[in-house]
Amino acid sequence: MNALAATIAAIILTTLSAEGAAVDGDPNPVDDPKDWWRKTVFYQIYPRSFKDSDGDGIGDLRGITQNMEYFVDAGIGAIWLSPIFKSPMVDFGYDISDFREIHYEYGTMQDFEDLVAKAKKLNLKVVLDFVPNHSSTESDYFKLSVNRTAGYEDFLVWDDGLIDPVDNSRKPPSNWVSQFQGSAWQWNEQRQQYYLRQFSEQQPDLNYRNPAVMKEMSSVLTFWLDKGVDGFRVDALPYMMEADKELHGGRYPDDPLSYAPGIGPDELGYTVPIYSKDQEDTYAIVIQWRALLDEYSKKDGKTRVMLTEGYANLTMTMKYYGNSTHEGSYVPFNFDFITELNGKSNARDLVYKTTRWLTYVPTGKYPNWVFGNHDNSRVATRFGSHLVDGLNMLDMLLPGVAITYQGDELGMEDGYVSWEDTVDVSGCNAGQDKYQTFSRDPERTPFQWDNTTNAGFSSATKTWLPVAQNYMTLNLARQKESPRSHFKVYKALAAARAKPTLQEGAWNLRALSDQVFALTRTLEGHETLSMVMNMGSGRETADMSVLKELPQTLNVYVASIDSNKNPGDSIQANSVSLEAGESVVFTSASLECSS
Ligand code: NOJ
Ligand code: MG
Repeated sequence: MNALAATIAAIILTTLSAEGAAVDGDPNPVDDPKDWWRKTVFYQIYPRSFKDSDGDGIGDLRGITQNMEYFVDAGIGAIWLSPIFKSPMVDFGYDISDFREIHYEYGTMQDFEDLVAKAKKLNLKVVLDFVPNHSSTESDYFKLSVNRTAGYEDFLVWDDGLIDPVDNSRKPPSNWVSQFQGSAWQWNEQRQQYYLRQFSEQQPDLNYRNPAVMKEMSSVLTFWLDKGVDGFRVDALPYMMEADKELHGGRYPDDPLSYAPGIGPDELGYTVPIYSKDQEDTYAIVIQWRALLDEYSKKDGKTRVMLTEGYANLTMTMKYYGNSTHEGSYVPFNFDFITELNGKSNARDLVYKTTRWLTYVPTGKYPNWVFGNHDNSRVATRFGSHLVDGLNMLDMLLPGVAITYQGDELGMEDGYVSWEDTVDVSGCNAGQDKYQTFSRDPERTPFQWDNTTNAGFSSATKTWLPVAQNYMTLNLARQKESPRSHFKVYKALAAARAKPTLQEGAWNLRALSDQVFALTRTLEGHETLSMVMNMGSGRETADMSVLKELPQTLNVYVASIDSNKNPGDSIQANSVSLEAGESVVFTSASLECSS
């Protein structure tokens, strides 16, 4: 292709993908009432850090509503909001004091209804966070249960604890360790009993052996469904159930010790949580909530989705999908890109881990890929900023649901948060010496809109978390203006999701060398898409012709920002030269006629 033809092709391609429209003659994925959740891109919003509309330094609902066009522009079809409910904010909303109210810093119920109304107009799905495992010590559930008010006595997991035979002192019922350090049992003076708290002491676990709790939390789901939401992301599922003490002689069994060196009894990792995590009866709860959502969906035939959070081993994670008779979660989060892979991984690791997940997904179920969230160091920081585009390519091209954490489309990096500015309970509880290992503040710093004060996030003098120092150069406005940027790559990729090949096509994953990863997607009668990524630190020449499904000549669809390849360029498959960190998506379609 000569230079002029390439330029024209590039313009055609950019126009098509920039509109996020039917690149391959396919309708908007979210228009499919049943399968919209499979086809679209989910975007996690951390509301506190997205956009502050009222100048108090804290992101809010109006900030989201006022900027909703951004999602449409980016090609995102569904937004998931981290908790927006009434909360004392010990765990920034994951400690809910009223499950049916909007937290005042985020706005009012009217603001929420406005948000849903605008989303519907823009054809965006809205998914809420649902935090069933625990509430807050400021919730009525806690207060009524402490008082042993009729009907609430057993809303929490209460226990007398153990009496030390030597000195008669009272000790926690078992050695279970909280996710946020310390014993998972908290003494309550008033009730003279311990309550279970798998997270902070202000987050008492609810007791799912009590049917009244299940009933109450199910009615919370219906409350928000009636407000028009399209589904839920369910929090902390592995901690929903603990061993039944009645089956263990009337006392909660100790978890075995891990004997991990250097970890004390109050620290996470001291025990192997076989009794306090991943209990079999958890899955029955998921099945019940799925049935509730399916029942609700019957009204209008539109799927209400359930995404579930559970850091667990592969076997226990796959069980969230359901069993041979009952459906479970639509999207049991696949955290392999967080827990199994990182900047040290090479192409073989990547093929191995992605193939592992694809192999174990139960027949008929759909995979998914999580690259980042508000609990883990950012993807650009974990893998290195040179791989941002390649990882976003994977997110969009791997078979399955694509999920993006706010800011990862720009390649945002962890912000520096000093001990003085640290607010995350997990960081604070770890103390000044260890806070950097445990604090989740760095991945929660405000969204970088532009290079004005506070990165355009807020007009306040002080924001709830400091803005990351690199906002002057790394921000959305700049990426929109630049001829090449992470955002533009992301947008082209999100637009490609509408292509049938990516929705239904077969896949092939290959390590072409230790460092060169390749993926192809094929569907009869449609264009073939492929990607290649050099994960190493030196130049490589890849022979993609070993992938027999590919044509001899590949057309560049989009390339990473530092690549010298441009959309529309034609490249011989048997000799693709790649700089360190370079990644490219190819299409078999001739760009002048892309269907
Ligand atoms: C998982 C959430 O993502 C995290 O932010 C929270 O602290 C815990 N669950 C407890 O709700
Ligand atoms: Mg605000």
